[in-house]
Amino acid sequence: MASGDNIVLVGFMGTGKTSVGKLVAGRLFMRFVDMDGMIENKAGKTVSRIFVEDGEPAFRAMERAMVVELSSRTGLVVATGGGIVLNPDNIADFSRTGLVVCLWAEPATIVDRLKDDNTRPLLAGDDKMERLRSILEKRRPLYEAIPNLIRTDGLSAAAVADLVAEMYGRPR
Ligand code: S3P
Repeated sequence: MASGDNIVLVGFMGTGKTSVGKLVAGRLFMRFVDMDGMIENKAGKTVSRIFVEDGEPAFRAMERAMVVELSSRTGLVVATGGGIVLNPDNIADFSRTGLVVCLWAEPATIVDRLKDDNTRPLLAGDDKMERLRSILEKRRPLYEAIPNLIRTDGLSAAAVADLVAEMYGRPR
């Protein structure tokens, strides 16, 4: 990767994009940004409220605009929202200005990490675990299509951050 290129962490909810991203940014002296947080700041409300009040398509449009904005910047470690793979233009744009790394975890790992989480609108309601498994399986081919993929099951965030930093330092 050329110096200044971004590092973009993609992956399902609960794969560790935010915790790993913060560690990588600290290690490589880059700036960490969280896409959902930026969307929330811009919209003046939480992602959950955006889903309820404006609907998922409106959220995806905000997300798309944020991808365009962030992929024009440099030196960032970006933790993306889990759904950015749904629009191939998002991955194409991020790939032009950075290293896109997918963090993968098996459903059992994610179920365990998210069982007490109430912040994800797509998992709101009673049949949360069923929904989580079904969304993950549907998206699996989209995540697995990303060439740089780290299987995070059983790894600490620090160990995953090491692997990401190593990928970034590797000549292409
Ligand atoms: C989503 C993941 C969330 C957030 C929104 C939708 C998804 O981000 O963008 O709730 O479609 O997978 P995290 O992956 O950070 O939880």
